[in-house]
Amino acid sequence: MALSPKEPIGTPLHVAIVMDGNGRWAKRRGLPRTLGHRAGVEALKRTVAAAPDLNIRSLTVFGFSTENWSRPAAEVAELMALPRRYFESDLARLERDGVRVRALGRREGLSPDLQEMLAEAEARTAGNDTFLLQIAFNYGGQADIADAARKFAQDVADGRARPADMTEATFARYLSTADFPPPDLVIRPSGEQRLSNFLLWESAYSEFVFQDVLWPDYGKDHLAAALAEYAKRERRFGGAVTDDVLAAG
Ligand code: FPP
Repeated sequence: MALSPKEPIGTPLHVAIVMDGNGRWAKRRGLPRTLGHRAGVEALKRTVAAAPDLNIRSLTVFGFSTENWSRPAAEVAELMALPRRYFESDLARLERDGVRVRALGRREGLSPDLQEMLAEAEARTAGNDTFLLQIAFNYGGQADIADAARKFAQDVADGRARPADMTEATFARYLSTADFPPPDLVIRPSGEQRLSNFLLWESAYSEFVFQDVLWPDYGKDHLAAALAEYAKRERRFGGAVTDDVLAAG
């Protein structure tokens, strides 16, 4: 099946994950935080491998937020090295397995070689349509919304758009997540229960599952458990349950 922007892609179609708890995982083992992040990359590999078996067609993961720059320089340097660590071992396999890779977030601010690596991952997998893997890196939901508003304002200033063109659908096309559906399910492991500036616009009607496991320990069973929880939910997108409407009428 082609991974068309216009059609839904699987059940649940799109899962987004805040990969949280690397630091605590390391601390509990008396290890430096950097080793927690490296273990987090292994958990990402397990999760990407497990997702298609669980009928997920699209996965979006939070790798580095616009707020993470405030961490100590050594930790930032380790976080900046994670995409290379991941792609060096896995890009060829992703490419072969039909996975399309897309990086979300601001490229400016990243080193030229990291920008190049993200561009290469996108280019090498651009023709793939079996699975979509979006990696949010130097991403913030508010920053993405601000960037989208700036681009639209520029289009208006340049005569390419009119203020009256602005609708929710128009705005979504200016976000870095443009062209693919929003997440059906947002998962946050580690016990924290907040969105932390992830996919603010896109998660308007997502279901949320919070799990009490640290990200480096995450794997197929945890993902399956989150999907089982999701399957119990009733999504109404702001509408009413049909039975209630009938009862009220
Ligand atoms: C939050 O845990 C996690 C991060 C800031 C980094 C997440 C990144 C990965 C798991 C690997 C990403 C891989 C690629 C390819 C980008 P934390 O350090 O805040 O944990 P804590 O809350 O326990 O301190």
